[in-house]
Amino acid sequence: MKVMEIIILSIVFTPAKALFDIGVGIADVTGPSAEVPFMGYANLDQKGRGIHLRQFSRAFVIGDGHVRLVFASVDVGMIGHGVREGVIQNLMRHYGDTYNEQNVIISGIHTHSGPGGFLQHMLFDISVLGFHKQTFDALIGGITRSIIRAHKNIVPGRIFFNQGDLLNVSINRSPKSYEANPEDERSKFAYNTDKQMMQLRMMSEEGSRPLGIINWFAVHPTSMNNTNKLISSDNMGYASLLFEEEMNPGKLPGKGDFVAAFASSNLGDVSPNILGPRCIDTGEECDELRSTCHGETGLCVARGPGRDMYESTSIIAGRLRDKSRELFEDQSATEIVGALKVIHQFVDMPNQEVIYYNRRSRSNIKAHGCLPAMGYSFGAGTTDGPGARAFGQGSTMDNPLWNRVRNLIHEPSSEQVECHGAKPILVPTGELNFPYEWQPSIVSTQLAILGSSPSVVVAAVPGEFTTMAGRRIRDAISEEIEAVVGPSGRPLAVAIAGLSNTYSDYVTTPEEYTVQRYEGASTIYGPHTLTLYLHQYAKLARVLVEGKTLDPGPQPPSIDPSTLISFITPVIFDSTRWGTKYGEVLEQPPAVAYPGEVVRVKFVSGHPRNNLRQEDTFLSVEKQRDNGEWDIVYTDASWSTKFIWMRTSFLLGCSEATVEWAVAERDAPGHYRIRHFGNYKYILGGIYGYEGVSNTFQVLNSHRKIDDSPLRR
Ligand SMILES: *[C@@H]1O[C@H](CO)[C@@H](O)[C@H](O)[C@H]1NC(C)=O
Ligand SMILES: *[C@@H]1O[C@H](CO)[C@@H](O)[C@H](O)[C@H]1NC(C)=O
Repeated sequence: MKVMEIIILSIVFTPAKALFDIGVGIADVTGPSAEVPFMGYANLDQKGRGIHLRQFSRAFVIGDGHVRLVFASVDVGMIGHGVREGVIQNLMRHYGDTYNEQNVIISGIHTHSGPGGFLQHMLFDISVLGFHKQTFDALIGGITRSIIRAHKNIVPGRIFFNQGDLLNVSINRSPKSYEANPEDERSKFAYNTDKQMMQLRMMSEEGSRPLGIINWFAVHPTSMNNTNKLISSDNMGYASLLFEEEMNPGKLPGKGDFVAAFASSNLGDVSPNILGPRCIDTGEECDELRSTCHGETGLCVARGPGRDMYESTSIIAGRLRDKSRELFEDQSATEIVGALKVIHQFVDMPNQEVIYYNRRSRSNIKAHGCLPAMGYSFGAGTTDGPGARAFGQGSTMDNPLWNRVRNLIHEPSSEQVECHGAKPILVPTGELNFPYEWQPSIVSTQLAILGSSPSVVVAAVPGEFTTMAGRRIRDAISEEIEAVVGPSGRPLAVAIAGLSNTYSDYVTTPEEYTVQRYEGASTIYGPHTLTLYLHQYAKLARVLVEGKTLDPGPQPPSIDPSTLISFITPVIFDSTRWGTKYGEVLEQPPAVAYPGEVVRVKFVSGHPRNNLRQEDTFLSVEKQRDNGEWDIVYTDASWSTKFIWMRTSFLLGCSEATVEWAVAERDAPGHYRIRHFGNYKYILGGIYGYEGVSNTFQVLNSHRKIDDSPLRR
């Protein structure tokens, strides 16, 4: 019966054509690497000092002959409306209205190690010394470039989907909140975070050439902690680089044809620090509800599986890549066939009032939004990056002292206090409009359905949904589609594309909200934020499968970047110390280096913000060929290198750049050199390029080292 059904259905539903137009593209979006605070941990001490991994945008254009979809996954904390708007405006200049508000999804991977200042809301800007135009422009330019490349690469191709479970890379960082969800709901799941990895594999028409993958797995890229000062795409970005390196042999990072995106999902309460939180002073367990150690917040920190943050990043990235590769090679993946559909609507969250019919409980839920506000536990941060010591998580009571401090800024109205229910308000962001909006009220909601039978749905959400919030969204969408099309039309899967298009913080379930840990305190439109989204995404799904259209919704305010506040001082000028010149080597490499050693070269440098060197590099590790010519083997985007910049005199504008290269077993013995490229700002005006080169040094393999060691002789 089942088989018969499938055969009949496939005769009825399989369209003649399984081919899509597919283009993939990658571009460098790396922002300013020095003296700009990183976005994510809200730690002002975490200002950039160089580059470990470059940031990339990975773009996919998919078309069915009528409808086009752009999906870009970007190595950045999140995407804000201004960035998306800038990209769409650029695309319109190139391609008319082929790409527009309806069909462009831009999702941030959520690294916490990239320069901030690209969001246009006061609350997010405070944590990074204000808006920073250079970061904003770097992102818009790079994302645009990746989509243009994808557009230019379009070929006829096929899309396959599969999924599988990956354990041992994620834990729930707010299990006490999760446990507030109903028992009968929790009992349907074996774990308190989503373990399934979902993957789309794109192949050229004849099926022989892999074009790329989009992979969704829910985990925070916070393997790099809040002490890191080198730009990094963290575990997700490194997983991409590892997969791409394997598929594009001989190509430098970001330069190959095959593109592997590891995109963000419902990671709201999911940490990669799988050894869990401990008190860093005593090694004991933290208070589970409040994540404090003997009353203090700053001491409860979660650890990753590695000995340090680099090793943790590498272990988590390796596990993500391995699982992704297993899915990639699995020939039983399902081919996606049929049409492509996409829909978008802006929603004014505080003004929503809905009656949501919950299919699971067969009941109506009346829900309304609130003006944005952040709760007390927001101040506590998380166990991946603790915040202010005065706050613990799980605060459902306010405190008169802090209320008085808060009231100096603004005292929340009684309507707001009531609207937010269990949340004691620390920052009433929705009632603050000075000097500009503190958090968005209008958010982007967007849904794409790839194929008809079978189909995969991509739900682009404007924030960080927790595990259970994501599961409910997935169910709401699947059930709505099933209700319209019937059981045969139920999608294979719904992928939550996290941190897309607008950034509006976290979304918990109403039950998790009552516990008011960090995620609940940061669910900004009140206890029913998720209910409003369930209603909205079910609506998008219904309209889409019924083939109807929706009004675009209210336009978010367009913000003129020049009106935003910035406290980041510009580069005034550079200079070199008496008797030295730019690019001059201050510290030479050793004559001989072995695998396991780090080669270090120090140069006189200019400020890295003079020129971001996108699509280029601040350093190269070069190997000499037999004919004397040099090949670049690593750049500043490579895992084995670090570009570290340091000011040596603020008054004189002097600085130094250190290049570190970790020699590994895989590096062939031979002659090597290290170069540094930069730009300096001349005191009388103008920006000029310079370069420096180290002495040549020899890399020997480990066997020679043993032979040469004095002990053996
Ligand atoms: C999980 O990781 C730990 C160490 O990181 C390892 O000992 C264990 O075998 C792993 N378990 C699974 C199921 O992979
Ligand atoms: C961050 O990781 C480093 C090791 O890489 C460790 O020394 C440091 O204590 C960690 N800091 C926090 C706040 O987790």
